[in-house]
Amino acid sequence: MILDLQNIFKDYQQDKLIVPVLKDVSLQVEEGEYVAIMGPSGSGKTTLMNIIGCLDRPTSGTYQLAGEDVLRCKDKEMSDLRLRSIGFVFQNFQLLSRQSAVENVALPLSYAGIKKKERRARATQALERVGLGDRVTFKPTQLSGGQKQRVAIARAMVNNPKILLADEPTGALDSKSGEQIMELFDELNAEGVTIVMITHDRNIASKAKRIVHIIDGMITEGKDKEAENG
Ligand SMILES: Nc1ncnc2c1ncn2[C@@H]1O[C@H](COP(=O)(O)OP(=O)(O)O)[C@@H](O)[C@H]1O
Ligand SMILES: [Mg+2]
Repeated sequence: MILDLQNIFKDYQQDKLIVPVLKDVSLQVEEGEYVAIMGPSGSGKTTLMNIIGCLDRPTSGTYQLAGEDVLRCKDKEMSDLRLRSIGFVFQNFQLLSRQSAVENVALPLSYAGIKKKERRARATQALERVGLGDRVTFKPTQLSGGQKQRVAIARAMVNNPKILLADEPTGALDSKSGEQIMELFDELNAEGVTIVMITHDRNIASKAKRIVHIIDGMITEGKDKEAENG
């Protein structure tokens, strides 16, 4: 079991009001799985992703990531665990606009203390891996949406994390670019990467092998892909 979340509650405090957002969410994901988390806007998807990604802590519950008790970790241990284990992809790419593709991709390697020459070599390789070997010096403004998302995927994977977390990865893309991103996810999953992808798009979710629905902060497990197709 690579992800094991049990009885997760998350409240936000807004002025004097306490807003419950996740209400007793339990989710288990095996290593190598490809899971889509589907739900309407405001249902708590991003809140859940931030908890899975060790970017935020729940109000209560337990969370084991690759056997580590995440919520017992201090903030520094939690961010080390995040850097080692998880790659992130976001709807709006979150690339640094003044930096070239290769510099963006190399960024996680500098946190890992890798020397400049090796950073550049590994980042170039990661860009080749996503089909952008001929765009390494391009800045984000010189790339299409689909290309920007591929740069973001190269950045997410350059450390070889076991888990890829994606929050609406095709949300800002036309359907053809979205398809290409989904093909890339399929390849990564075939190589053994565990993928958790958030989407509100049924068509995109159907690419995953398992669908989990979240409605109003509560999870209901969907049918698996075979059942969906059959
Ligand atoms: N930092 C925050 N403070 C207060 N409320 C928040 C915060 N982040 C999210 N929320 C609320 O939590 C609910 C779920 O948000 P979110 O997880 O972003 O949903 P989704 O990604 O499914 O659209 C929303 O009602 C939102 O207003
Ligand atoms: Mg969201």
